[in-house]
Amino acid sequence: MDDPDGYFGERIAASYDESSADMFQEDAVDAAVDVLAELAGGGRALELGIGTGRIALPLARRGVPVHGIDLSRAMVARLRAKPGSDAIGVTIGDFATTRVDGTFAVAYLVFNTIMNLTTQDAQVACFRNVAAHLEPGGCFVIEVGVPDLRRLPPGQDVVPFHTSPTQWAFDVYDVATQAMSSNYVEVTDGRGDYTSIPFRYVWPAELDLMAQLAGLRRRERWDGWTRRAFTSESRQHISIWEKPS
Ligand SMILES: C[S@@+](CC[C@H](N)C(=O)[O-])C[C@H]1O[C@@H](n2cnc3c(N)ncnc32)[C@H](O)[C@@H]1O
Repeated sequence: MDDPDGYFGERIAASYDESSADMFQEDAVDAAVDVLAELAGGGRALELGIGTGRIALPLARRGVPVHGIDLSRAMVARLRAKPGSDAIGVTIGDFATTRVDGTFAVAYLVFNTIMNLTTQDAQVACFRNVAAHLEPGGCFVIEVGVPDLRRLPPGQDVVPFHTSPTQWAFDVYDVATQAMSSNYVEVTDGRGDYTSIPFRYVWPAELDLMAQLAGLRRRERWDGWTRRAFTSESRQHISIWEKPS
């Protein structure tokens, strides 16, 4: 990947809000913002991978001071074009290693973005970086899918998740390395345009261990922002770890 904006360069940024429209629904956003505002409790919030401000802007409108980190100038330009963004500070950089001034009551990394770090070392570094930014009693919140390996019969490594005459989308898994990719083919006038985004899938228990390495301890694990219990059937989780006081 040569683009300094990573996989969220100009082309993805230009259509990000429309193509993620479900995630921008008021119900989905409000439920997340309720949890984050409560955890902030009058303190500051740090968003890793702030993107176009889907969560940061409504959180800032609730009166929470928000700072973001993102690699992509193209995504942050979309945030900057929205009303209210002048209340939000942004640092351009890799959220696994980039330091910003001050400490935070809550740090959060939503919409599967921990998986954008494609090595275990980088994911561990991210937890350590967050721990260094949290004030005592502060929390780190992650929203991420449970690896969908139950959909893979032996010998199969591809899971299609959208097929239509004009778009094919499928994930490819390497269970030996936990590497995966999401792949998209957009068909226009009979010609396909192919995009592939690499990820590293990560297990809930593995995240707990990363938290432990960073000196954090788990406080919650829910199936979603409405705080339903996490079960063996859950397809995603919201996990919260806290820095001991
Ligand atoms: C799926 S988007 C999520 C954006 C926003 N959090 C939301 O919920 O809509 C992922 C964002 O993380 C950023 N990102 C991915 N890997 C990153 C990294 N290693 N360091 C900083 N930003 C990163 C991308 O540029 C993109 O803006």
